[in-house]
Amino acid sequence: MTTKNQTIIFEFLLLGLPIQPEHQHLFYVLFLAMYLTTILGNLLIMVLIRLDSHLHTPMYAFLSNLSFSDLCFSSVTIPKMLQNMRNQVPTIPYTGCLAQLYFYLFFADLESFLLVAMAYDRYVAICFPLHYTSIMSPKLCVGMMALSWVLTTFHAMLHTLLATRLTFCKNNVIPHFFCDISALLKLSCSDTHVNELVIFIMGGLVIVIPFVLIIMSYARIVSSILKVPSARSIRKVFSTCGSHLAVVSLFYGTIIGLYLCPSADNSTVKETVMAMMYTVVTPMLNPFIYSLRNRDMKGALGRIIHKHKLHPCLFW
Ligand SMILES: *[C@@H]1O[C@H](CO)[C@@H](O)[C@H](O)[C@H]1NC(C)=O
Repeated sequence: MTTKNQTIIFEFLLLGLPIQPEHQHLFYVLFLAMYLTTILGNLLIMVLIRLDSHLHTPMYAFLSNLSFSDLCFSSVTIPKMLQNMRNQVPTIPYTGCLAQLYFYLFFADLESFLLVAMAYDRYVAICFPLHYTSIMSPKLCVGMMALSWVLTTFHAMLHTLLATRLTFCKNNVIPHFFCDISALLKLSCSDTHVNELVIFIMGGLVIVIPFVLIIMSYARIVSSILKVPSARSIRKVFSTCGSHLAVVSLFYGTIIGLYLCPSADNSTVKETVMAMMYTVVTPMLNPFIYSLRNRDMKGALGRIIHKHKLHPCLFW
């Protein structure tokens, strides 16, 4: 039926951010700075956790994974966006678009599963402090990470394979700064019912189930404190869970803001700005949330700087 006026599209045009041409330079510098901050901040966390033996605990192994995931997540979209801001014709090849789709979903899911693993870790640390090391064994941690990778590979692959079935006609302009799945569906001239159904069901599963699990962990934590309330135990919970809770709120806050708030008439602009929020801002803030409030991380940084002062040759 559509085969007659169906043309094969080899590349898409990414319109990028809805900003005025005269502001392009300003935003280019701003996003470049934010991207570099993300890379450096997350690399610093990974290096600190690897080098300092005080940080060789499950919680920091997960945090290191989270930093890795943040770093990759922003690298999927930001470098291409920056490159396109300098190009006359901001294009992305069809295969590049699918690759972006795959890795975007992959690292977004991974982040969500990691937040669950970290919530479970905090739950065990607070509710079963004496059995912490035996419950959170290296085997369980590696198992949880492996399961996350398998699930997220499956989910990202499913959407990417479904996206390869889409056909595109004349229009190849994506009003976004990366190949977002909903933007591709709007552009396609084939029947997208199956894709939408799968997005709805799987999206619900990978967002709602982790969210419910995190809420359950925290409900257990809160109820265990309320049994024996004391200023000391409340302080302990805040010092160990505060950072995680902040990251969870940031991650789910933007998702909920994006999907549950009624969208105005100009919904693509809103979508782009919200996408900016969780691809650029969240990965940049996570390292700061974890390191600024955290005595162990600061201690590790101090020890490493101190060590290197004593052996300046290590720098060379
Ligand atoms: C991720 O977590 C696993 C399991 O705890 C750990 O073995 C691995 O080193 C971590 N990976 C990174 C990049 O930190």
